[in-house]
Amino acid sequence: MHLTPASIDSVSATLEYLHRAVPKPVTHMLAGADGLLRETGCYAPMAVTIRDGRARADAATLDREGYQLCNAPSAMRSFEAREEIQGVYYREMEELARSVCGASRAIVFDHLVRRRTSGVNSPFGARDGHRPSTATRVHCDFTATSARRRLVLEMETRGIERVRRFAIVNLWRTTRMPILDAPLAVCDTRTVDPADLVAADIVYPNRTGEVFEVLYNPAHAWTYFHGMQFDEVLLFKQYDSAIDMPCHTPHAAFTHPATPTDTPPRESIEIRCLLIFD
Ligand code: OGA
Ligand code: FE
Repeated sequence: MHLTPASIDSVSATLEYLHRAVPKPVTHMLAGADGLLRETGCYAPMAVTIRDGRARADAATLDREGYQLCNAPSAMRSFEAREEIQGVYYREMEELARSVCGASRAIVFDHLVRRRTSGVNSPFGARDGHRPSTATRVHCDFTATSARRRLVLEMETRGIERVRRFAIVNLWRTTRMPILDAPLAVCDTRTVDPADLVAADIVYPNRTGEVFEVLYNPAHAWTYFHGMQFDEVLLFKQYDSAIDMPCHTPHAAFTHPATPTDTPPRESIEIRCLLIFD
């Protein structure tokens, strides 16, 4: 039995930011022959205040801050079987994303089950043969270029001809236990200057993805939701083609100073979902 520490309105923590914008940072997701991960960027832990979103009177929304906590029970009892995730959980999350965002169509195209592994240098969650760990580096999953690439891929596969507006959201939940260990912090998009976002390459064996890494800006307003439960989902925006909508929500896992030492490592599932608006 693990007790939830009393919720405090805000905590002091550090987040791993990008230190310099040039040259374009490159991170290799698999270790080299010497076992070391390779990256060209320069990073620095920066002290931030992270507020508990539950302590706020007015709830944050996807269309204003760029993230939103939803009550969303799931029929899933375990996330061990890929077929069940794709067959059952994808449908549940498509329906949730579609209804929260008012989209005409929702298409889940990716998921990741994470379990924090201590002592692993894994800024984006190492994938070296084992379950990805938590992602401690501040980032946004898509740039405009990689978001558009994903849209085109889905349009070609599904024979979709025209799209007026599209967006990508993540839907993030614990697989089991309330989240006390390594919670996820999200940044209010209204406090992000476009100059804070730096395109970076993530190199996998078979492809290279483009994400944003983030330069520190004291204006950034960070939030997490204390002790997220299994029937809660955090939605956050990864891209939006509408110019008047939140677009890139920086996020990262952090060490909560009040986490009891015997707390089991965090386990979570995140879904990436493309939204199409008629
Ligand atoms: C994400 C993400 C990090 C984590 O959901 O896109 O980067 O540690 N998550 O869960
Ligand atoms: Fe991410």
